[in-house]
Parts: sequence; C-alpha cells; structure tokens
Amino acid sequence: MSQQPIGIFDSGIGGMTVAHAIKKALPNEQFIYFGDTAHLPYGDKSPESIRHYAARITQFLIEKKCKAIVIACNTASAHAFKIVQDIAGPSVPVINVIDPVAEYVSQQFNRKRIGVIGTKGTIASRVYVTRIEKRNKTLKVISNATPLLASMIEEGFYNNKISQTIINSYLSKPTFKNIDALILACTHYPLIRKEVDSYYKKRIPIIDNGEVAANALKEILEKKSLLSKGKTSKKDLFVVSDYTEAFNHSTKIFFGEEVQLKRARIWD
Ligand code: DGL
Repeated sequence: MSQQPIGIFDSGIGGMTVAHAIKKALPNEQFIYFGDTAHLPYGDKSPESIRHYAARITQFLIEKKCKAIVIACNTASAHAFKIVQDIAGPSVPVINVIDPVAEYVSQQFNRKRIGVIGTKGTIASRVYVTRIEKRNKTLKVISNATPLLASMIEEGFYNNKISQTIINSYLSKPTFKNIDALILACTHYPLIRKEVDSYYKKRIPIIDNGEVAANALKEILEKKSLLSKGKTSKKDLFVVSDYTEAFNHSTKIFFGEEVQLKRARIWD
C-alpha cells in the first residue's frame, strides 16, 4: 500500500500549487493529479454539482489504487469532503485543504481577527468561519469572496499594475479593516502572495493553505505507515477531463514547470 500513489484533485490546473507543495514536502512519493477542466470553474457551481463531480473523480483515483486522496480545491473541500470520504472508504485517508488550516490558525492565534478570501462557493459555505470559530472561540473570522482573482491569474494577470489594483480593491473592503492574518483560500492565490504582502506591507501573516495541507498529509501518512519506502521510480501523472493547449501551458504557472497533461474521458 505504501508504494501506491497519492491522488490529488481540483477543478482544473490551479490545484497544481497544492501538488507542488506536496512534492516539496514529500519528494519520495508518486502522485496522480486530476484536474476537472471539463467543469471548471467550481467556484460558481452548486454544492450538488460539485459533490457529483467529486464523487466520480474519487472513483477514478480509487481505481488507480491511490493510497490517499487530497482535495486540493477549496470549493470542493467545502462541499464534497464527506462524499469523497464515503467513496474512498476507511483505509484511504482523505485530506481537504480547509481543516488543516483551521487547526493551524486556531492553535497559532488568540483573540484575533482572521480574514479569508476565496471563491463565491467557498465563502458562501461559511466553512472557514464555522470550523475556525468552533475550534477557538476567541477568534473572529471575516470572509470575503474575491471571484475575479482566479480567472485573472489564469489569464496571466499577476505581479502587474492591473492585478495589484484589483487585489487592493478587494482587500480594502471595510469588513477587512484591522484583520490580524489572512488565509488564501483558493488554489490560485499563492501566485498573488507578493501582491497581498505588498498591500499589507508585510504587517500581517499570510497563510497559504496548500503548504499547511501538504504538512498535514505528511503527518497522516507517517502515522498510518503509508509513507513511500525510498524514492519512487514512477513518474507523476497529470490527468484532465478536457484537454486544450492552453491548459497545458498553464501548468507552468501553477506547477513551476510545464508538464504533459493526459486526457481521461471519465464523463463519457
Ligand atoms: N480550485 C478552486 C478553489 O480553490 C478555484 C477555481 C474554481 O473556481 O474552480 O476554490
């Protein structure tokens, strides 16, 4: 079992930021990445649709004999964690990108105001508010949807004047006044971390939930004796439900190097 791959899935290519963080934390492991590019974006979809997509993708990853499943997408983590766990079964641990951050924040901070930005779906679910405030009652979570940011980043608009203006406009909302930390609750946002830092002039910590989830995954695999014994010789696989050249080029933005995507027709 320990030599089997880790399954990671997202609505598209953005979740490769999480795959990248996992590769850094667990360089010996092989993973299978699934991007549901046929249904992108998840941020505007209904919870029912997201659960339907996540269930089928989980079946695919289980058929590929994945030993653990990471829901890299925040929106899917918010709406589909339970169904993914049910399909994966008790022997395959499932990690979402929300609970590890909720745990981290509730241990690191006390009597603070924590900001969260993410898609409409993630923010409407109020999942960060409930999971953080339940763990630490002294914390106040303020969340704002920032729907323009994911598509802006996908189009290559980051680290420039236009993106900085849009980011500043979202972060200057009155509800975000006096926050003490900010959670980047979307696969795409590690790419705008510099601009977020520049808005706050590095005065507050910015939390990247991909990194936190990668460390949580490592701990869980260790605890369950599921870590790979030595470096795997098997190559990572990158699978999408709809292939275009543009998606393939985007892998460089999110994974740091361009990788070859393969199409799996799981919706036919
Ligand atoms: N992957 C999504 C998330 O982290 C962002 C892109 C989308 O809306 O599909 O919530």
